[in-house]
Amino acid sequence: MNPEEFISSFSFDKRLAPYDIRGSIAHATMLARKRIISPAESKRIIRGLLSIQKDIERGKAIPPAEDIHYAVERELIRRIGKTAKKMHTARSRNDQVVTDLKLFVRDAGGHILEAIRAFQEAVLMRAEAHPRAILPGFTHLQHGQPVFFAHHILAYAWMLERDKGRVRDALKRADECPLGVCALAGTTFPIDRSLTARLLGFSRVSENSIDTVSDRDFAAEFIFACAMIGVHLSRLGEELVIWSSTEFGFVSLSDPFTSGSSIMPQKRNPDTAELLRGKSARAIGGLAQILSLLKGQPLSYNRDLQEDKPPLFDAADTALASLDLARQILDGLRVNEKTMEASCHGGYLLATELADYLARKGLPFREAHGIVSDMVRELREGPEGGGNLEDYTLEELKSFSPLFGPDVARVFSIRRVAEDRNSYGGTGKKALARQIRKLKTLLKR
Ligand code: ARG
Repeated sequence: MNPEEFISSFSFDKRLAPYDIRGSIAHATMLARKRIISPAESKRIIRGLLSIQKDIERGKAIPPAEDIHYAVERELIRRIGKTAKKMHTARSRNDQVVTDLKLFVRDAGGHILEAIRAFQEAVLMRAEAHPRAILPGFTHLQHGQPVFFAHHILAYAWMLERDKGRVRDALKRADECPLGVCALAGTTFPIDRSLTARLLGFSRVSENSIDTVSDRDFAAEFIFACAMIGVHLSRLGEELVIWSSTEFGFVSLSDPFTSGSSIMPQKRNPDTAELLRGKSARAIGGLAQILSLLKGQPLSYNRDLQEDKPPLFDAADTALASLDLARQILDGLRVNEKTMEASCHGGYLLATELADYLARKGLPFREAHGIVSDMVRELREGPEGGGNLEDYTLEELKSFSPLFGPDVARVFSIRRVAEDRNSYGGTGKKALARQIRKLKTLLKR
């Protein structure tokens, strides 16, 4: 490895070209407006930059240089001659690179917000496609209480709704124009930073030149938002892996989302769901990477900062790809409603409801809880080593508590129990309908 190669960032920062060009166009416009360069010079520069942009869009790469900023400048000089050398007046690569990066984050953030929304629509569609599907709700991966599948899957829409908030927050922090702080101290040229900011669509300019060239916390924050998205999708991936196993059989992934084994002919492995889980490690690692990068750097700019790009780009790309894949998986997911419902029997899912029944009759809940625990223990330790709460006769129930009456039958319907849990945010029919309405209103915005 030679030193030039070691120093170069071109291999990974070349994707910043469109942002770099946009930044330079705004800068050249401002320079002319302030009479720092002539209008004719500015026009020449801008025309040259646009021609480079067009070539890049057509897939024609510009010759490599130490980094994208030098590459664009050198190419501009090649195309329009020495006027191009005026472009870098009252600017440094230090304010240029952080401007490019903020423009990148703004674009990537916008795409991620759209992808989240598409994912949420897919969740909603899956939820509404199976209004009657019911399954055991789990805590500790043990049967807890019966819940509707729609309720369970909608949890992911709300998680990702919070992620949207985090992305928007990161974008707010990035919405500050660095251009014009130059190397680290500002300039004696009579520049107009607000104009540059307006031209680039930033809502304000940064306040401190030293802070500005060394700030990458907007990037760290954005990577965190991507990491959180990854973690949420990895939980979905894990559930899909478990649910599609032979033991559960709750769902089946459609064929393109699975792959076979090179040795076991029967296999349909849930590879895409596993990779939703696996890919989340990238942004988590990227977050550690950028925080370690920033830690302990003296002010202001240091070349270390160049290493901010790979984790940032990878976090954004992976979040986008994972959201898209998760959406597609949900679109094609087969939900085995019968298997789900069958698994609701035999795990004592009605125990809480039975305790609530006694509590409604006036018994303190803690005592009711004790009685039902005894009932479950008896079943578990019984000769058959199992049995269901609903198999107790009324007489047997009365031996546990005289409060049991014929109306207990209502408690013994898994479906009714789930339908009735209508406290705000619950799985009940009415509560679920309200939740869906609220989500739809949010998604319409
Ligand atoms: N490629 C550099 C980076 O990404 C650009 C800034 C270089 N600045 C400097 N003072 N050497 O950070």
